[in-house]
Amino acid sequence: ATSIPADDRVPDMGKRQLMNLLLLGAISLPTAGMLVPYGAFFAPPGRRGGSGGTVAKDAIGNDVVAAEWLKNHGPSDRTLTQGLKGDPTYLVVENDRTLATYGINAVCTHLGCVVPWNAAEKKFICPCHGSQYNNQGRVVRGPAPLSLALAHADVDDGKVVFIPWVETDFRTGEAPWWA
Ligand code: FES
Repeated sequence: ATSIPADDRVPDMGKRQLMNLLLLGAISLPTAGMLVPYGAFFAPPGRRGGSGGTVAKDAIGNDVVAAEWLKNHGPSDRTLTQGLKGDPTYLVVENDRTLATYGINAVCTHLGCVVPWNAAEKKFICPCHGSQYNNQGRVVRGPAPLSLALAHADVDDGKVVFIPWVETDFRTGEAPWWA
């Protein structure tokens, strides 16, 4: 039997270690790259926007910047934005030209049509079966059984951020049916 000389094994071991290192690198580099989107995906929602919310998007999908919005939307304006879970949500401008601290989910509580704002009537009037909601989205005429859902509208870093509304519905004094 022939034994392998020691000085022949050494470079061999060195090569294997090098291969292992290369293999490790090949595995860990893409893994490290994947950590970024995964990390962003799994990070607690509170890290995004700082308060567990979703940045409101305008009609063409841009983040809503509060100051810009108020330049283009006057007192008592109610305009649709994309809100929590992508739901159409009205941003409300108060009469004093500030943004309301709540947004109104536009999905009709009857059968889910998106309810337009009627500025002349100062109501939300559903085109599907005629339900009506006051200027804060409280139901005033059926067949809709419930008021429109609310979301908190905060300004964070200049942008409007919607946050789930889990507190009492200030319009009715009742627990929120949507939470
Ligand atoms: Fe709005 Fe029926 S869906 S009234």
